[in-house]
Amino acid sequence: MQKAVISRLGEYEIRTCEKEDIPPVIEINMRTLPEHYSDYFYYEILSEHPDTFLVAELRGVLVGYIMCRIEYGFSQLKRLSLARKGHVVSVAVEEEHRGKGIGTALIQAAHAEMAKKTATECYLEVRVSNKPAISLYERLGYKVTSRVDAYYRDGEGALVMAAKVER
Ligand code: ACO
Ligand code: ZN
Repeated sequence: MQKAVISRLGEYEIRTCEKEDIPPVIEINMRTLPEHYSDYFYYEILSEHPDTFLVAELRGVLVGYIMCRIEYGFSQLKRLSLARKGHVVSVAVEEEHRGKGIGTALIQAAHAEMAKKTATECYLEVRVSNKPAISLYERLGYKVTSRVDAYYRDGEGALVMAAKVER
């Protein structure tokens, strides 16, 4: 099957995730984040939201992913209005490939795909202590819209952050 390259960053390619990418995506998640999901969850998101599940690849090896859903509900940005929203469920880059713009490229590419699906905003939850991720999101226009105490299993709270997405 033809793999759809969305953007390039030096030798890194940002492209849509395929079924056979799910095992390495799960491995990246295991190595980089305390939040894990059942294998089924990854395949389900891929089958329901294939355009906004992206991977970063370097010479045939996956080094990062972003997994998103498109939802419809109350806007995080405009009080009492309804909106189609992208939801970044999980994003991660292998440690030795961080700080090179891959996280930025994954989020920007996901935003572009969300906008094609007529989403007007994107939101996510992030641990209050996750400074590198929070500063990256802020640089990409995300603002904190709320805070959820004890959101994570270990009791840590989450910031809900949201940004406009544009075509
Ligand atoms: N390591 C990490 N960051 C570095 C490094 C380095 N060696 N060198 C520089 N940086 C800086 C960059 O300058 C940039 O700074 P800024 O955002 O303040 O301008 C920032 O760190 C990283 O930006 P990118 O290179 O675009 O992003 P990266 O490819 O490093 O990925 C990510 C960011 C995904 C948050 C990564 O750190 C990661 O995988 N962390 C562990 C998993 C995680 O926390 N994921 C997010 C959870 S929340 C959620 O999933 C919704
Ligand atoms: Zn979430």
